[in-house]
Amino acid sequence: MEDNGKYKILFVCLGNICRSPAAEGVMKKMSADAGLNLEIASCGLISYHTGENPDSRMMQTARRRGYPLNHRARKIEDSDFGYYDMIIGMDGDNISRLRQLCPPQYRHKIHLMADYFVNISNYTTVPDPYYGDMEDFDNVITLLEDACAGLISSIS
Ligand code: 4NP
Repeated sequence: MEDNGKYKILFVCLGNICRSPAAEGVMKKMSADAGLNLEIASCGLISYHTGENPDSRMMQTARRRGYPLNHRARKIEDSDFGYYDMIIGMDGDNISRLRQLCPPQYRHKIHLMADYFVNISNYTTVPDPYYGDMEDFDNVITLLEDACAGLISSIS
């Protein structure tokens, strides 16, 4: 991919249908509102859902909270590690897998989303809502908004 000079952030979760596409949507809106011009994308660590829209529960919850999602799932590729400036995983399993896949010279780009929480203190990850209920999906948006606020202050 051609480098466009923008700072580039890639959000990563397992399936790329719940947490990371929502992180992409929340960060796109919040960073634009903050006047930042970033390139923001998301992907997954498995190919099972490749080409799919985000989970309908995630789409519905995100839309209700003000973040319409427009994304098709894809699996992470080798070239992502060089291309993106920050690669942000949602939980410890995501981080372990990313570290295994990442060439050593790019490992400093890998970060945990929860490390950017500003007001949230009772979570150390953004937990997978896939087998949960609508409240779990709503909670994902709350966690992502808080982490995106921290992320925006750390990069601006
Ligand atoms: P996500 O949630 O990682 O937040 O997109 C999941 C979606 C699908 C699966 C696991 C987690 N799955 O095993 O199919």
